Amino acid sequence: MQNEIPVVDLEDIASGDPGRIEEATTALRTAFGEYGLVYIRNHSIDFHHLESFYDSFLGFTTQPIETKAELSLDNIWYQRGWTPPNTERAVIAGGQPDFKECFFVAPEPLDPLAKAQYPAIYADNYWPKDAPGFDASDFQARYLALGHALHAAGIQLLRGCAIALGLDPYVFESIVHGGPHVTRALRYLPLSEAQANTDILWGEEHTDFNLLTLLPGGRFFAPNGEKCGRPDDDCGLYLRTRQTPEHPQGRMVRGSTPTGCIVAQVGQQLEILTGGTFQATPHIVRPPKTAGYSRTAVAHFVHAHSHQTLFPMTPFRTPKALSAYSPPVLAGTYSTKTLVDIGLAPPETMNVFGFHHYERLEQQRS
Ligand SMILES: [Fe+2]
Repeated sequence: MQNEIPVVDLEDIASGDPGRIEEATTALRTAFGEYGLVYIRNHSIDFHHLESFYDSFLGFTTQPIETKAELSLDNIWYQRGWTPPNTERAVIAGGQPDFKECFFVAPEPLDPLAKAQYPAIYADNYWPKDAPGFDASDFQARYLALGHALHAAGIQLLRGCAIALGLDPYVFESIVHGGPHVTRALRYLPLSEAQANTDILWGEEHTDFNLLTLLPGGRFFAPNGEKCGRPDDDCGLYLRTRQTPEHPQGRMVRGSTPTGCIVAQVGQQLEILTGGTFQATPHIVRPPKTAGYSRTAVAHFVHAHSHQTLFPMTPFRTPKALSAYSPPVLAGTYSTKTLVDIGLAPPETMNVFGFHHYERLEQQRS
C-alpha cells in the first residue's frame, strides 16, 4: 500500500524542464487527488538536524510541569508555547482529548495588520529559559531553522499543486503569504499499564484545518528512554485515503515514508479552494499496545492568510462544489471557529465577529 503513494521530487518542480515538471505534477494529481498525501524527495530537511531538534525538545519536555506551565498560554489559545496534555480535542463532536503535549512556534514573519486583527493566531513567539540540561537558545535556533525549511518545502510543493491544477504557478503562494503558519513539536505520552489497550488515543482521527501540512517523520522511544522502532504494527500515524466505489470508507495507510522522504497532506483550506479536487486527509495517531512507549513528532502547518476568502476558486465552481463549500468564509474566521471547536479557544470568542453595536446601544440606553 505504502508504495502506491507517489513520490514527488521538489527539484523536478523547480527544474524549469517541462518533462520533469509534467512528471511531478502528474504524480501530485494522483497523490492529492486520490490519496490526500504525497511523499516528497529533495525537500532540504536535514534529518541529522531533525534528530538534534528532537533531543532539544525532549530536554524541554522533561522540565518540571510548573516551568512548562509558565508557557501555557490560554489567553492566546495555546497558539504559541506549551499545550498541556489533555487540552486539545482533535474533532468537534464527541471528541476525546489527545494524550500529548505540544509546543507551537511561528517560524515566518507575521503580517502586522493581521496581528492586530487576530492577536492569538498571529501572536509573537514565547520561548523557554535555560535550565540544567536544556539550552534555550539552541532549542530556539533549531526550531526556527526546521520551521523555515519545512515552510520552504511547502511553498515549493504549492507551486507544484498550482501547476498540477492548471492554475497560475504562484496562486497558492500568494494566498498563504503572510499567513499564520505554525510549526508544532509534539510528544505523545507513555501510557500506564492501566491505560494500555483502552480507547485512549494519541491523536483522534481528524482532518487538519489549514491548507497544507508537512510531516518530517516522528521517533519512538522505549520505556527506558532509548530510541526504538515502531513498537507494534498498529501504532503511530495512519492516514485514510479518499473513498472510492470499491472502498467506500477509504483505506488506512501507515504513515511511514520511503527513505529520505517527508510527507505532505492536504488540509481543509486547500480542499475548499479546489472545490474538493484535492481532499483533506483524515489521520489518526494510535498509541502502542504496550505501556511505557512515547513518540516525538513535528508538523508544520501552512495556512491561508486570514484575509483570504475560503470558497472554491473559479475553475472548481461545479454545482456540487458550490453546494458543498458554501457560504464563503474568511480564513481568519474559519481558523477561530475551529480553535473553539477543538477546545483551545473559549466559546465566547465567536462573539468577536460583528455585533459590537448591541453592547454600545445597551450602554447608551442604560
Ligand atoms: Fe492533524
